[in-house]
Amino acid sequence: MIKLSDMEYRLLRNYFRDNCGIDILPHKRYLFTTRLREFLDSEGLDSYGALYKRLAIDKDAALRRHLIQAMTTHESSFFRDWHPFDVFMRKILPGVTSEHAARGKESTPIRILSCGCSAGQEPYSIAICVKEWTRTQTKFRPEDFSIVGVDIAEPVLEEARIGEYTKTGLGRYLPASFLRKYFARHGDKWRIHETIRNMVRFTRLNLAERFTYIGPFDIIFCRNVIIYFPTDIKSQVLEQFHRLLPPWGCLIMGASESLIGLTPDFRAVQEGATTYYVPVPKEI
Ligand SMILES: C[S@@+](CC[C@H](N)C(=O)[O-])C[C@H]1O[C@@H](n2cnc3c(N)ncnc32)[C@H](O)[C@@H]1O
Repeated sequence: MIKLSDMEYRLLRNYFRDNCGIDILPHKRYLFTTRLREFLDSEGLDSYGALYKRLAIDKDAALRRHLIQAMTTHESSFFRDWHPFDVFMRKILPGVTSEHAARGKESTPIRILSCGCSAGQEPYSIAICVKEWTRTQTKFRPEDFSIVGVDIAEPVLEEARIGEYTKTGLGRYLPASFLRKYFARHGDKWRIHETIRNMVRFTRLNLAERFTYIGPFDIIFCRNVIIYFPTDIKSQVLEQFHRLLPPWGCLIMGASESLIGLTPDFRAVQEGATTYYVPVPKEI
């Protein structure tokens, strides 16, 4: 078995930290050997140092894509944790859309960003919520919304565009009524209906880089993505979210994530088990 030296660990750790925000801490060092070993064999390389050289010095773009996919965790499910989606439909959508209308912005779409969207479960859950919520409204239709799913890993984005899921990929939170209504069974997979699929656009984006060019957005979901980023990169991401959101906008983080001590730019709003965040205007 090929050993990972201390120097190789440091080089690879810095590479993934600086390029993707993924910080493989010393107690998780084994992830390099478990997840990257097969690339050494398939690329005919005899050390992790040689792999690092191909990545960082030769800038092999195809290898980089494969390794980013291998080093990121893509676990997700439809309506993950459920309660944030309930709050999204009951509180956030009514609040944001009425502010949007009150400012005479009816002609511009309400823009929703799903960060680290994996194989599409989160943005499609958002689209289902929008579809359900607009059924109860006279002023808004699904076409008034623009939903964008972004991820650093291209293979999961490809899966998201296809929109087919195994039972595991659907997860345990999807209500049976939504499964019946918004999915069609194909063998051992379930395919999301075209009406929902057409509501979401997917694009590659690295949150560890500057990304404000894709905005603005009215609502941002960033759940279970930056949780393992180093603090300085987390703060950079939050600062950019603040710039992307209007004063009436809203940020939804993962159920176990907190912004306490990370940024003064957001105020927490507690709604049952869900905490969401609203931007605090910056003093000029
Ligand atoms: C654990 S999944 C979370 C999926 C979904 N948001 C949820 O909560 O179910 C994390 C996703 O974030 C993506 N990711 C990791 N680092 C990223 C980065 N720097 N920029 C964009 N996406 C990233 C991964 O590829 C992965 O698909």
